[in-house]
Amino acid sequence: MYEGKLVRLRAFESGDLDACHAFVNDYETVASMVKGLPLPSSYDDERQWLQHQTTYTRGEYQFAIENGDGDLVGRCGPVSVDWKNRLAELAIMIGTPYRGRGFGTEAISLLCAFCFDEMNLRRLKISVLADNTAAIRCYEKNGFVREGLWREEVYRGGRWQDVILMAKFRPNPA
Ligand SMILES: CC(C)(COP(=O)(O)OP(=O)(O)OC[C@H]1O[C@@H](n2cnc3c(N)ncnc32)[C@H](O)[C@@H]1OP(=O)(O)O)[C@@H](O)C(=O)NCCC(=O)NCCS
Repeated sequence: MYEGKLVRLRAFESGDLDACHAFVNDYETVASMVKGLPLPSSYDDERQWLQHQTTYTRGEYQFAIENGDGDLVGRCGPVSVDWKNRLAELAIMIGTPYRGRGFGTEAISLLCAFCFDEMNLRRLKISVLADNTAAIRCYEKNGFVREGLWREEVYRGGRWQDVILMAKFRPNPA
């Protein structure tokens, strides 16, 4: 529905379940998330998650990211929305076989356009593990700047990791 050169953002369908289940059962993927425990996810867990991505939402929604071959390559969306302050926290995940091909960068660009031009938000923020170079680069390329750092915020993989806070303001303030 929201389309770029490499990917489009569309709704999740029940046929996406197998791909989603595989994505979230990859340690490298779940370990790169700032929040939560890196637990395996069952088909039932994933089915429930998919059922929550509905148009009957107040904006907390994840798009499916599809490449030009029609493959589901990941997901992204505003995970928490503060309507009063016109602010949202974003999340993105590109599945293992599809990383490093520019999909994440373009998906974030499409997502920012949606948040600013359709949701009328003013500020978007993301928190990211300090070692996650690909994610930081992907956000920087989309105009996110570093606003702060939480030292040793997350214990993951047997060590404490810093979390970088990044944000982007609407380009044309309204
Ligand atoms: C982070 C993520 C969304 C980036 O998406 P992607 O499609 O893999 O990244 P892109 O191909 O758009 O590349 C973005 C930039 O990162 C760089 N990059 C990609 N993979 C990299 C890696 N493994 N190490 C270092 N840099 C990397 C690219 O070179 C590019 O920068 P450049 O244009 O200056 O060369 C994706 O890797 C991902 O989902 N990872 C697992 C989940 C995750 O980390 N989510 C974010 C949590 S905050």
